[in-house]
Amino acid sequence: MQQDFRSSTPTASIDETPADETLADPFLPELYRVVSSTTEIPDVVTIDIVPVSGERAPFAAGQFNMLYVFGVGEVAISMSGDPADVSRHVHTIRDVGMVSGALTRLKEGDVLGVRGPFGTGWPVHEAEGHDVVMVSSGCGLAPLRPAIYHVLNNRDRYGRVSILLGFHSPDDLLYRHEFEQWRQRLDVDLLLTVNHADRSWRGNVGAVQGRQFIKRANFDPKETVALVCGPEGKMRYMANSLHDTGVPQDRIYFSMERNMKCAMGICGRCQFGPEFTCKDGPVLRFDRISHILAVREI
Ligand SMILES: Cc1cc2nc3c(=O)[nH]c(=O)nc-3n(C[C@H](O)[C@H](O)[C@H](O)COP(=O)(O)OP(=O)(O)OC[C@H]3O[C@@H](n4cnc5c(N)ncnc54)[C@H](O)[C@@H]3O)c2cc1C
Ligand code: FES
Repeated sequence: MQQDFRSSTPTASIDETPADETLADPFLPELYRVVSSTTEIPDVVTIDIVPVSGERAPFAAGQFNMLYVFGVGEVAISMSGDPADVSRHVHTIRDVGMVSGALTRLKEGDVLGVRGPFGTGWPVHEAEGHDVVMVSSGCGLAPLRPAIYHVLNNRDRYGRVSILLGFHSPDDLLYRHEFEQWRQRLDVDLLLTVNHADRSWRGNVGAVQGRQFIKRANFDPKETVALVCGPEGKMRYMANSLHDTGVPQDRIYFSMERNMKCAMGICGRCQFGPEFTCKDGPVLRFDRISHILAVREI
């Protein structure tokens, strides 16, 4: 029998609502404490934060938090740590303005507000049994890193694994210590390129999004799931290059960034065509957004 929601509308006033039925305010941040702050490169800092409550902090690779510096403001920042570690959240932040700058200046012991985790994750489970290609440009490596951890920690569940990283110059390389660990693995194809370098650089120079560079990775396009992260224009090129090599559009995933306010699909601030980036994304499938990616104003 169909339920008539109008007749079942509660008539009790707010004062009469039993305390245990009161929902927590989703806009209220939870308190987290900074346990370490590491400068990756001059304007990019990684902070490790733990809940003051001591509770576990699970998240999916690809999700983000809203980080609130008291008295300054709140911004969306991706998880950049290992999703297998539920004791903490790790965030890598580039100082581009007031709030991101304040986040990079937090010190060990400082307390900040956290809402989240929000959004969709990288399709690390759907990708099992497939070759996986992960491509990032610059700070796009931060949102991608949880997926890299997951795939490398569960290496036997995947086919060939390629990680393609692009940076502006050799000095901009993020997570240097981990890069060396990944490079030493025999079960991962790790390719690095930079846009500019002096004569001391022995590695590749050129665009990470270029078809020629992507073709150097060892994968079977028809059996591949691709995860892509970086500035929007570059992601579009990366996706087109991957598609040109034969990767189907419905196996290419992006992590999109839009300015956010509520992060819960309420305010509409992050709208991207028919999608709300905070709720339907940030991880979105290329075939669902390729038609609107081409429109500059969106
Ligand atoms: C889902 C999601 C995940 C994100 N993950 C990260 C992350 O892991 N690390 C990180 O450093 N940043 C991340 N960002 C971007 C971050 O939220 C913005 O840089 C931040 O909001 C800037 O705020 P601000 O007050 O410091 O600067 P503002 O004063 O608001 O802006 C300073 C300058 O940055 C530009 N800007 C602001 N926001 C963005 C944006 N989203 N994309 C491009 N340019 C922008 C402005 O136009 C302005 O020129 C993410 C954003 C989203 C939506
Ligand atoms: S940030 Fe409010 S709807 Fe997405």
